[in-house]
Amino acid sequence: REAVAGTSPLLGFKGVAAQTSSTFDRVIVAPGYTAKAFFSWGDAVLAGAPAWQPDASDDWQAQLQQAGDNHDGMHFFPFAQAPNSHGLLVINHEYINPTLHPQGLTFTQDATGAKQRPIDQVRKEQAAHGISIIEVRRDALGAWQRVATSAYNRRISGMTPINIAGPLKADARMKTLSDPSGTQVLGTLNNCSMGVTPWGTYLACEENFHNYFVNRDAEDYQQRAEHRRYGIGNGVSSVYYAWESVDARFDATPYAGQQHNGHCNEPNRFGWVVEIDPFDPDSTPVKRTAMGRLGRECSVLSLHANGSMALYSGDDSRGEYVYKFVPQGRFDPAQPQANRQLLDAGTLYAARFNADGSGEWLALVWGENGLTAENGFADQQAVLLNARGAADVLQATPMDRPEWVAVHPQSLEVYVTLTNNTERGERFAVDAANPRPDNLHGQILRWNEAGGDPTATRFTWELFLLAGDQPGALDNEGQPIPEHLTGTIKGDIFSSPDGLAFDAGGRLWIQTDSDEDAAHTANTGCNQLLCADPVSREVRRFLVGPWGAEITGLTWTPDYRSMWINVQHPGISYPASDGKSRPRSTTVLITKDDGGVIGT
Ligand code: FEO
Ligand code: CA
Ligand code: CA
Ligand code: CA
Repeated sequence: REAVAGTSPLLGFKGVAAQTSSTFDRVIVAPGYTAKAFFSWGDAVLAGAPAWQPDASDDWQAQLQQAGDNHDGMHFFPFAQAPNSHGLLVINHEYINPTLHPQGLTFTQDATGAKQRPIDQVRKEQAAHGISIIEVRRDALGAWQRVATSAYNRRISGMTPINIAGPLKADARMKTLSDPSGTQVLGTLNNCSMGVTPWGTYLACEENFHNYFVNRDAEDYQQRAEHRRYGIGNGVSSVYYAWESVDARFDATPYAGQQHNGHCNEPNRFGWVVEIDPFDPDSTPVKRTAMGRLGRECSVLSLHANGSMALYSGDDSRGEYVYKFVPQGRFDPAQPQANRQLLDAGTLYAARFNADGSGEWLALVWGENGLTAENGFADQQAVLLNARGAADVLQATPMDRPEWVAVHPQSLEVYVTLTNNTERGERFAVDAANPRPDNLHGQILRWNEAGGDPTATRFTWELFLLAGDQPGALDNEGQPIPEHLTGTIKGDIFSSPDGLAFDAGGRLWIQTDSDEDAAHTANTGCNQLLCADPVSREVRRFLVGPWGAEITGLTWTPDYRSMWINVQHPGISYPASDGKSRPRSTTVLITKDDGGVIGT
């Protein structure tokens, strides 16, 4: 499927063709650019880390010193002295693949049917979650290298101590057997996308944390909103990995017989924004509870010239909401210490998208608009802990799985990817912002805050595009594509937008996370990085990844001449691409062969 020739002056590259073959096992990028594997699962992070074993026989102690799995959101933090050739790359490791172990994940069952796991596998899986921080710099020949012995190099994992700050610090609902003070939790999990603060810290976001826990008590589960509303497992085992079989804190069942197990609050300690200072390797990361507990995809900054700000989040499940957190204080570059407290006090809002193109931000404030004890909210802490339930009461608009948010660098116009929602038209009624039943392809929506003020409580919105096939397109059998699967894309088609970011030139970069093995992606194929002109809405395909992989994570040097993206869970043998090596999630470096700005 050849790329469409376009006309936008903002898009200076020639598009690449979609790749629809299940044997495609490479990364291709626009002519005149080079993409090369830069940092793969298992690569050394800490100085002296053991070399990665191609048969995946590394143990959990080795994994704790090496790159984790499933690279996702990331950010390049420049050093001031040489910002375009020296910095720290911070990378989320969202979850793990069966390829983590030589023969995949081992599951057995006990007499009750509960899944059982080997402790060494579980430890390695916990070690492969979290975040990598690596120092990177250009060498004398201008080539980017990882600095193997850097004191900044750091792994944060599913076992790392993380402080709890904000309104839920030391709250009874955060206390567990392993942390009776309710002030420190072990680990961060399912870090999908992220955010960056104006004071130079990284915000890792905890997305699908519910799949790591189980509450087997059906009656307790029904009345415990902070479990039920977030979809904590309520069968015999947690949904993902059954860690609870060897690590009791993942068993959130309140009682085993007469004995209180002490971990029913552990799921309350996940779903937060985790603030990390990459420049202080001895610092303890902090979960910021004032920002609310969500299946949080991202936390993306919009900073006004006056220092006021909003941090936007998608809560990525079917029918969940778009949120923003507005700190009470303002960013002041002259007050570095005060800035460090800004995420501990503020107002969380959920979005309502009205059919007439207007919108409202609904404040999640205890005591107002039904957020009261009679509706199950005893205090503001209860509102933050069950932000989803609070947004239900406020009648926010259920969306088609909100993923990344991007803010235009000049206008502060805000864009969000709504990746797909197969339950639209059934469980969730079709509406103006989510207009297609059985929405397999997703859409991108954009809004402007009233007065260009990130803290405004009103906005105007419109759909930027509907993803999917071109009207009139034919499927593999030569049959016309059904109407609900055709989109409004001008240019190169794609399915299921997820990653989203603006560069300084105002180009909107879009990454996809679609199922390339499904009938509806017969024409869009492998996942991609595309670039859009926000004015003309033209879209051009810049990069295509290997079969089986999501394309995610997106960051640049400040001069936009070096770009990194992530290839998550490639399916065949990437990056070796030899048809037989174990595939590895990989950070990919992209440069323009003439040294120019990417995309021009
Ligand atoms: Fe981890 Fe919503 O993507
Ligand atoms: Ca995502
Ligand atoms: Ca996704
Ligand atoms: Ca993913």
